[in-house]
Amino acid sequence: MPRFDDYFLDELTNKADIVDIVSRYVSLNRKGDRYWGLCPFHGEKTASFSVVPDKQFYYCFGCGKGGGVINFVMDVEHLEFADAVEHLAGLCNMEVPDAGNKKVGDYKKRLCEMNAEAARFFHAKLKEPVGAGAVEYIKKRRLSPSTVTRFGLGYAPPGWNNLSDYLRKKGYTNAEMIEAGLVRKSERGVYDVFRDRLMFPIIDHRGNVLAFGGRVMQGDGNGQKYINTGNTPIYSKKNTLYAYNIAKKTAEKQMILVEGYMDAVSLHQAGFTNTVASLGTALTEEHAKLLSRTVNEVVIAYDTDKAGTAATERAIGVFGENGISIRILRVPGGKDPDEFIKLNGPDEFRRVLAGAEQQMDYRLAAAKNGIDLKSDDGRIAYLKAAGKLLSELTSRIELEVYAGRVAEETGVSRETVITEADRIRKSAFAAEKKKRHVTDINPERAVQPPRESGVRYADPVKARFEEELLSFLFTYPELCEKAGELVKTEDFTSPELGRIYGTLISRTEKGESTDTTALSALLSPEDMRLMGKLLAADRPHSGTEKELSDICGKIGNKPGDSGDPLMDIRNRKRNMSGTKGVY
Ligand code: GTP
Ligand code: MN
Repeated sequence: MPRFDDYFLDELTNKADIVDIVSRYVSLNRKGDRYWGLCPFHGEKTASFSVVPDKQFYYCFGCGKGGGVINFVMDVEHLEFADAVEHLAGLCNMEVPDAGNKKVGDYKKRLCEMNAEAARFFHAKLKEPVGAGAVEYIKKRRLSPSTVTRFGLGYAPPGWNNLSDYLRKKGYTNAEMIEAGLVRKSERGVYDVFRDRLMFPIIDHRGNVLAFGGRVMQGDGNGQKYINTGNTPIYSKKNTLYAYNIAKKTAEKQMILVEGYMDAVSLHQAGFTNTVASLGTALTEEHAKLLSRTVNEVVIAYDTDKAGTAATERAIGVFGENGISIRILRVPGGKDPDEFIKLNGPDEFRRVLAGAEQQMDYRLAAAKNGIDLKSDDGRIAYLKAAGKLLSELTSRIELEVYAGRVAEETGVSRETVITEADRIRKSAFAAEKKKRHVTDINPERAVQPPRESGVRYADPVKARFEEELLSFLFTYPELCEKAGELVKTEDFTSPELGRIYGTLISRTEKGESTDTTALSALLSPEDMRLMGKLLAADRPHSGTEKELSDICGKIGNKPGDSGDPLMDIRNRKRNMSGTKGVY
């Protein structure tokens, strides 16, 4: 069994961004959705080595090496899996679980189970007389019974030892309850942290109950409106987004980011199931990475108060570095999303959502704040600030559009604005280049001959559809469950592709992550390389269920239909990408 548990690998996945890590060895340039550089594994003069940040993998079209970030470290440092994980953890300043880590994994699992037990306890209280007040409060906040069930909401009764007594009967120790942040110690023993509060369990994408938030039910509780679990061995705020367990299944390419539990729950109830909350904490790099796995656009719908505006600015900065595009939704009337939707209904919220500003509009407006455009000084100050903002745009078209707008506002020509943005970009780029330290590649390693890429398939025609299915599922992992119903692992003719498929499906069934890091713990480097090749081909898919069932229909008993248009597309792609003939 793998030496590292899923918690650790998940954390590593979040920390170890493949672009950061590869950049330590290879100088990369971004083109479209991926980065390119000279392959460190074979000598070459034109870049055929690619890294795709979205899917966190690399692939060399020249020598066929590929995989996730751990595979890259294995390849470049010539390490076995476990040593590569340790090396990578070192690069990310993470502590590696020591030899007793099996025990650590079991211990964490036990804390999660205890939390789940606590969540059930709280939830059950809603059906008892003691929970009548909470039920009343839930009604007042207009949450439906199915919302309560979906989010596992509950009630922590008043009194000091309700939960601790219950958990002790279930065999949990005081030490364990303290570790999980459910109880605290006093001179007279332990006491429950959550008392007389509406309870929101915080659940991760695997369905583990990691922590809780508890809200007072009268007023705003003099600064103790919410009590939240602090950092524990299984929970850290900076890695967790509330409602992500549900929202990650969204088919939308966009996520709505809100501040509070109630905002998230309320938007889900109104049909916006692509909502997560960052729970009163500043958005972190880890949050952004988590979101970048599922979507490519985030709509920030923070409160419009001062704190919310500051948090929005920070979030824009964090997302900017992760290649996620951002829009900012300013809820009208100074309300938070929960209040707004209850007052105006879902349709009105959808309308506001559609009108959410592009981040550039928002930031230009913010830059203009307090500046008098009628004065020369004011115009110069604004042009400088705007030039800096525009210099971050990667699309020429966007630059033209926004530069035009700034030109109009200031009475300067569009060309001048563009020149200023270009100047700032160039000097920033030069500074960055100077700063970036590129490790020299060991020349002995670099002259390794190109390897034969890929494997040989016994039934090339069928294998093409099997590849097609995998490639589809890498882009649309939310359809893995559906695929699992249509095609069984045994239907695959290629054992390699079947192994990859089987791993994807069984992890999906267990609600486990299917990102490249998790997979590289389970699949051999050879299988990961094959996967890299499939990911790199970047086939055009629309991601509909119809398309999925069409592909699935080609797999299994039916003979492959070589006159299929899908295959023509693929052949074209293959020729374009310059991979060697594999079949
Ligand atoms: P409602 O007042 O119930 O609608 O909550 P809200 O979701 O609108 O909360 P608010 O916007 O006031 O705060 C956003 C988030 O910050 C909450 O969901 C909590 O996670 C956190 N938060 C709010 N108040 C407190 C507090 O008193 N203590 C702590 N630790 N966190 C808080
Ligand atoms: Mn609120």
